[in-house]
Amino acid sequence: MKVVLGVSGGIAAYKACELLRLFTESGHEVRVVPTREALKFVGAPTWAALSGHPVSAEVWDDVHEVPHVRIGKGADLVVVAPATADVLARAAHGLAGDLLTNTLLTATCPVVFAPAMHTEMWQHAATRANVATLRSRGAVVIDPAAGRLTGADTGPGRLPDPAEIFQACLRVLAGRPRDLAGRKVVVSAGGTREAIDPVRFIGNRSSGLQGYALARTAAARGAEVTLVAANVTLPDPAGAAIVRVESTAELREAVLSASADADVVVMAAAVADFRPESRHDAKIKKTDGEPEAIRLVKNPDILAELGERRRAARTALTDGDREAGPGAVPPRVIVGFAAETHDVLANGQAKLARKGCDLLVVNQVGEGLAFGTAGNAATVLVAGGEAVEVPFGPKEDLADVVWDLVAARLP
Ligand code: CTP
Repeated sequence: MKVVLGVSGGIAAYKACELLRLFTESGHEVRVVPTREALKFVGAPTWAALSGHPVSAEVWDDVHEVPHVRIGKGADLVVVAPATADVLARAAHGLAGDLLTNTLLTATCPVVFAPAMHTEMWQHAATRANVATLRSRGAVVIDPAAGRLTGADTGPGRLPDPAEIFQACLRVLAGRPRDLAGRKVVVSAGGTREAIDPVRFIGNRSSGLQGYALARTAAARGAEVTLVAANVTLPDPAGAAIVRVESTAELREAVLSASADADVVVMAAAVADFRPESRHDAKIKKTDGEPEAIRLVKNPDILAELGERRRAARTALTDGDREAGPGAVPPRVIVGFAAETHDVLANGQAKLARKGCDLLVVNQVGEGLAFGTAGNAATVLVAGGEAVEVPFGPKEDLADVVWDLVAARLP
């Protein structure tokens, strides 16, 4: 595996030499990218000799090789150890003033931060917010160890033992196969809104968290991801191209156009089934008298349309094409979601058949369940019979189960 070891300017930089050795001795190729400040603690010759690669903190060296893009794009894992408060802040805000922060912006692989700093800095609200931002984007931020710090002080902020960081990195590498590399994936997320007038709409409670977790994990598994986001206010997931939409009509347009050559489409968005028959051009005023009833009309069912289009395309295949199998028609795998309040599995089975999808993720919704919460529990129904139970856990875990099932169905 190609590992980028980012080293930022803390006294613990010397411990990163040990981490580097653990990687190289187990056969990984390591490229060290220190910050300028890190080089004040451990010099470039040490990193170059231990890694066998040239070392620079700047984007201005070896420019013909475009290192600020190439290093991040080619990595299977980026680990920043030690990660100072400063580098966490710069990474959280997308700054790109040196080679390491450029590498963090171009890497689509998993990223692990191993922070090390004084307790006050680790506990400061600014650092807490930066760590939360990085985690929400899918980065793994290892909690620092507690113990003796640089001076006489003790407390949380110590760089964990290099062997521990190494094990955490191996878990991240093993947990995310790059089995979607070269695959085009479309994920819809959030909830559509149907305008009543310029200020009011009919909408739903979807936060977009599950769709964003799907987009993030697919990108981490190597997919080229288009994320069609309906009214989501979460930070953009790394490695996904985002198309923002508001209404069901806009979502339909974006999903159908991105799906034309996609391998996989996942409809995680909560799509409004109905919209007002007409939209008022001006705000409806109380002074207009008694309100008019809002007449609703049905929206198109995008998931059912995707399934129907694929079915028609498969029927129209020529004999030659047919030999390539049904997988020759995109999207090769269609995944739907179903939020049910009762008779969850029976409704799910019926919906899977009705919408012509390959997988249907069914979960129970209602007070305090699923919407806006960090975790989710669900059953993934597979066309043809199998049902995979996913116990309550982070939405990323459910996303990984979905991608495991999808990857097994791709030709
Ligand atoms: N969906 C869609 N277009 C719609 C409605 C839903 O593509 N107009 C998709 C959702 O993104 C989801 C799946 O269909 O993947 C199931 O949505 P759900 O609202 O549970 O199903 P409905 O078809 O609306 O069925 P019902 O309201 O009867 O439960």
